[in-house]
Amino acid sequence: GPLRVLVLGASMRTGSSNARLAALVARMMTAAGATVDLARMREFDMPLYDGDVEETHGLPEGALALRDRLERCDAFVLSSPEYNASVPGVVKNAIDWVSRVRPQPFKTKHALLVSASPSLVGGNRGLWALRVPLEHLGTRVYPDMFSLASAHQGFTEDGQLADPALQTRLEETVTAFLRLVEADARYVCLQRR
Ligand code: FNR
Repeated sequence: GPLRVLVLGASMRTGSSNARLAALVARMMTAAGATVDLARMREFDMPLYDGDVEETHGLPEGALALRDRLERCDAFVLSSPEYNASVPGVVKNAIDWVSRVRPQPFKTKHALLVSASPSLVGGNRGLWALRVPLEHLGTRVYPDMFSLASAHQGFTEDGQLADPALQTRLEETVTAFLRLVEADARYVCLQRR
């Protein structure tokens, strides 16, 4: 069947440029034939990780819901802002909670990391920081990443990228990523025969 991809906008705020970027990636992936589950991190409400809470109550609903959505996909996309040149606490907290589930759902999943920021770096340093916990958990983080600088003026009204060269570059990144995930899925199928 078609590839299933979870596309997550990781910023909490309503007017998030990362939510817009996630929606654009989702449209590109749908056009490329994938089945997309577009979501936002704020749908998965969870407290700050606390080992006592885990011991007495187990995992919070939000973490289990995120686990379920991850388990139903072949790959995921994270569109995350950069806070102080690193991963937003909300994102790291979600990764920490979900990493406690067995089987650990990040393992062997393919991931594409993208970011948007009003700054000129486009949040790229945050993505490099995000690679550390994900790669530690066994996620196959795609080598190429996409960061949208000046994101506050980066979108047209219909949600495309204002710069056509960047629009093409994002399309190419998304397509190449899907091709890799597809090739890997076929390889795994062959091995299982
Ligand atoms: C930021 N922002 C930011 N931007 C950036 O490019 N590099 C950075 O290091 C930081 N640091 C930072 C720290 C904190 C605490 C906040 C709240 C913000 C700005 C950030 O990129 C901006 O708020 C984006 O608009 C967030 O993405 P969304 O919410 O538009 O998706």
